[in-house]
Amino acid sequence: MQIAIDGPASAGKSTIAKLIAKNLNFVYCDTGAMYRTVTLLAKKNNVGYGDTLGILKLMSEHKIHFTNEIDGQHVFLDEEDVSKDIRTEEVTNNVSQVSAIKEVRTQLVQMQRDMANDTNIVMDGRDIGTTVLPNAEVKIFLIASVEVRAQRRYKENLERGINTPLKELQDEIAARDYKDSHREISPLKKADDAIEVDTSDMTIEEVVKKVSEIVNKQGR
Ligand code: CDP
Ligand code: CDP
Repeated sequence: MQIAIDGPASAGKSTIAKLIAKNLNFVYCDTGAMYRTVTLLAKKNNVGYGDTLGILKLMSEHKIHFTNEIDGQHVFLDEEDVSKDIRTEEVTNNVSQVSAIKEVRTQLVQMQRDMANDTNIVMDGRDIGTTVLPNAEVKIFLIASVEVRAQRRYKENLERGINTPLKELQDEIAARDYKDSHREISPLKKADDAIEVDTSDMTIEEVVKKVSEIVNKQGR
């Protein structure tokens, strides 16, 4: 069984996808982490975020892989655990440029489909229901107002000791949503058969309950 969870930045996709996967004992795959890792790879090697050939060369020379640990999914670049390094502001602010490169998407989408082959999976991202797993039994499109999403990111940052002004976070989220929704290849878009859940006024527990109900109704 395949469960696709898409939506804009900070809508709660990974939080909800992780909990649903845990409850159902499914594999969880965070596809955003893959685009972030390619962005980190470019940064580490001083290759421009728009340098398609340079990035493809790096992708052919390095290996990205995932492990599932008790504390969640970890992502490795070759043998190095980069799970934390892919969450920096530098990566966040440039990932949409890298993810708009057609050839990067082709390679990562193939890896994502391979991961979903022969296993029950919850996968979150931007194009899972539309492109990666168009036959997924359950498709959810999570949304929340940009104000609420910035507030959530603000709180999350504070817990990590980072105090980024709320307005800056709101602008970053809006800019990334715009780029992700307007790129040529697999833009962020609700699949026609996806169910939209507006989480603006919902707690994490309420969203998990709602999504579980949808899974029970649609997926079984
Ligand atoms: O967690 P957050 O909302 O910050 O984003 P993410 O899921 O980690 O994704 C980071 C970026 O990767 C997005 O802004 C997109 O540019 C790109 N992405 C994508 O293009 N397609 C996906 N399936 C997942 C992420
Ligand atoms: O994966 P995505 O970028 O869509 O969002 P996330 O990283 O799962 O969630 C962003 C933040 O919002 C996290 O700190 C979550 O704990 C929080 N959140 C929330 O407060 N209420 C929800 N209903 C969903 C997420």
